[in-house]
Amino acid sequence: MEKISVNKAVLPEEIDRQKSYINRIKEKNQRFCDENGFRKQAFIMTLGCQQNEADSERLAGMAEAMGYEISDKPDNAYLILVNTCAIREHAEKRALSIVGQYKHIKAKNPELIIGICGCMVVQEHRIQDIKMRYPYVDILFGTSSLHKFPELLFEKMQRGKRILRPDEKEYLVAEGLPVRRESSYRAWVSVMYGCNNFCSYCIVPYVRGRERSREMSEIVNEVKELVADGYKDITLLGQNVNSYGKDSGKEYDFADLLSELDKIEGDYLIHFMTSHPKDASRRLIDVMASSKHIARQFHLPMQSGSDRVLKLMNRRYDFEKYIGIVDYIREKMPEATITSDIIVGFPDESDEDFEKTLDALRRAKFDMIFSFIYSPRKGTPASEMKNQISPEVKQERFERLLKTQNEISLASNKPYEGKTVRVLCDGRSKNNNEVFCGRTEGGKIVLFDGDDGLEGRFINIEIERGDTFALYGKIKK
Ligand code: 5AD
Ligand code: SF4
Repeated sequence: MEKISVNKAVLPEEIDRQKSYINRIKEKNQRFCDENGFRKQAFIMTLGCQQNEADSERLAGMAEAMGYEISDKPDNAYLILVNTCAIREHAEKRALSIVGQYKHIKAKNPELIIGICGCMVVQEHRIQDIKMRYPYVDILFGTSSLHKFPELLFEKMQRGKRILRPDEKEYLVAEGLPVRRESSYRAWVSVMYGCNNFCSYCIVPYVRGRERSREMSEIVNEVKELVADGYKDITLLGQNVNSYGKDSGKEYDFADLLSELDKIEGDYLIHFMTSHPKDASRRLIDVMASSKHIARQFHLPMQSGSDRVLKLMNRRYDFEKYIGIVDYIREKMPEATITSDIIVGFPDESDEDFEKTLDALRRAKFDMIFSFIYSPRKGTPASEMKNQISPEVKQERFERLLKTQNEISLASNKPYEGKTVRVLCDGRSKNNNEVFCGRTEGGKIVLFDGDDGLEGRFINIEIERGDTFALYGKIKK
């Protein structure tokens, strides 16, 4: 696949041009509303990572500005967007199956416009697939065309023809698009887009382009506004936040950005993800340790504990270097939580390699891990490697990985018993309406008996029990 390398911002004139399309669609939608007595609904389905969540909030912001009412159900929608993910095969299959279900909605309402966007539809073979097998899909646009959504939708409305747009080869930073945030107290803020690392298993650099950072002043202003609006928890997003600023030849880096943000006054926490171990600097950890608002939480994907596999993965660190960072974080911030990503069944991973990953888990004592079965991605080097691992072996290793980590997670949660932790309340738990849930500064899930009205507020919880996946407690009076 082609490697793209461009690094600049979308011109303000271009954003204004898109805004003019927003206004023209708004006029059309207003006429529809006047004639029919109701507003058209839009439904946005998001798959994949937090970056996609953040992108969907922009899409929803644009749709709302066009006069759509944002709905949480697709059934009565006049606009459906599926924001897709390509990281593993499962995510792609899910996206296609969801799109398949919308065929019936379209049959009932021929005016419905269905769009697919995001990482999956940057890949040529997927574009072709949708062209042929999903004739009722009206618009398709990749990650680099997100800001052009108004223009594409307007064209579709005006001309009625399908617009299956291959991704632009230019990946830019787009500022000034409207945003409709899902939460009134937790927010995403992208600090950079794309990735330069080309880990051999990963599709991201091919579907999100090269690294490009937002201007520090833009980020600082956005966070200031969020804090002023009462946001309590802000997560900075980037595929590799540690290389923030490097692409644009700026004088500042990610540690500087954190120090700058930490100066903003208010009662709030800043999280960030994801850090690449090859670039996680001691200075960054020092800045966190001396900060007031930067949460003591590190998501540091290790991927494998075997140096041989790490080399095949093109991760550019070995276990020695990795564990050195973990030890330094613990030395400076003993209370910090550390989480990680692990892939099992990478091509040529031997039993011995896998045992090294288990040993690494025992040594690193992560609070939690996100574990993945290796999924070959078309166009990436690893998908062409010899000795692909059988599904049975992958599954067996995956289960052993979970079992080992579950014991470690339990051991990491036990010491919380009897302690009081500060928790940002998320209201009633989605799994059990009777209990309330929230998260600690380190991102641990806490379940407790609460009251309505606490959502979005920091509260102190006395922990009575620490279990594998959550802490249980009661509100401290
Ligand atoms: N197969 C399985 N897991 C993957 N990840 C990225 N690409 C793949 C793949 N092809 C995992 C990595 C990464 C996380 C976001 O997804 O662990 O850190
Ligand atoms: Fe993928 Fe590696 Fe970039 Fe993460 S750092 S997005 S795993 S290529």
